[in-house]
Amino acid sequence: MGESETRVIVFTCNWNAYSSLEAAGVEGLSYPASVYAVKVMCLGRLHPGLILKAFEQGADGVLLLGCPPGECHYGFGNRHAEEVFAEAKALARLLGIAEERLCLDWLDVGDGRAFVEKVKAFLH
Ligand code: FES
Repeated sequence: MGESETRVIVFTCNWNAYSSLEAAGVEGLSYPASVYAVKVMCLGRLHPGLILKAFEQGADGVLLLGCPPGECHYGFGNRHAEEVFAEAKALARLLGIAEERLCLDWLDVGDGRAFVEKVKAFLH
């Protein structure tokens, strides 16, 4: 994906991922303005329909960022997110949406640099 005009929805959980987004802001780290963050309490709150809705609404890519395995604040939310991600990916494939337009990844708490790196890597 190209960078500047590519519209990306980043679903972040409220904990590790969102604290990393906030840290990026505090540290003055930048990422393209076409990246829109949507915060949910836990990635386990997502379902395939919500992810595909982002594509329907014109997103070029959807990135899911949450807490690493074993660190979800609700115990099993990120494991559930992996299942939802696999389901969404399978449905996206059926709809002709290229696999690389959807990604799931983890972040440590308050890691602004990693947040920006992961967003930028997804854009390329
Ligand atoms: Fe971060 Fe569940 S709270 S993935």
